[in-house]
Amino acid sequence: MTDLHVAIIMDGNGRWATARGRPRNWGHRQGAESVRSVVGAAPDLGIRTLTLYAFSSDNWKRPQSEVSVLMKLFRRYLRTEIDELRDNGVRVKVIGRRDRLASGLVTAIERAEEQTAGGERLELRLAVDYSSRDLMLEAIRIAAAASDIERKDLVTLIGHAMNGDGEAPDVDLLIRTGGERRLSDFLLWECAYAELYFTPTMWPEFHGSELAAAMDDFRARDRRFGRVAVAS
Ligand code: IPE
Ligand code: IPE
Ligand code: MG
Repeated sequence: MTDLHVAIIMDGNGRWATARGRPRNWGHRQGAESVRSVVGAAPDLGIRTLTLYAFSSDNWKRPQSEVSVLMKLFRRYLRTEIDELRDNGVRVKVIGRRDRLASGLVTAIERAEEQTAGGERLELRLAVDYSSRDLMLEAIRIAAAASDIERKDLVTLIGHAMNGDGEAPDVDLLIRTGGERRLSDFLLWECAYAELYFTPTMWPEFHGSELAAAMDDFRARDRRFGRVAVAS
């Protein structure tokens, strides 16, 4: 099966660095390498849409010094990777709130989205200042006037509420690295029938080969969507 939507909660940077006697921010820098590796591997694994959780709305609660390094890394990623992403047919889309981001970062995001708009091999969605609950609330606010709202309408409204292109696509496989087994306010609507894959591997050690292993695991699963299993 191709055209899959895979979402990843990239967790464990801080613990990985701390375990090596280094500052947490060193783990975030290494984590950027994993992003490169995973984005490079995704299209050949049948992934058409890749959504990466880079910064949650709750992550503002971290020390200012860590927040500022994360924002700098994000900006640097957009600046240094964009040409290669475009050349590889990757279309970048940033989802989440933008009104609390620095204006320079917002400009970098807009530029990256513009310059990669023609990409057709992979849709790379980066979730920054993202909260699934907040954007569902926003979608419901917009919908409040309509009494006959249906599921498909809400899918579109959620898509718009997060700066998406108008659709909140269902997730096929959700991966979380770093050993925790929770969603941390990520894609709550879109994961209704997602397969879940939790790995103890810390994000800085998760590369294309680990993604391939997760995809093998996913392909062996029987997705029933409420129906009974098809006899084999
Ligand atoms: C994930 O790693 C990156 C972000 C949340 C931005 P963490 O920073 O959460 O690392 P741990 O979970 O503390 O090890
Ligand atoms: C989730 O990780 C957010 C990102 C990976 C960007 P956290 O490390 O913030 O989640 P919790 O606090 O352990 O649930
Ligand atoms: Mg964490």
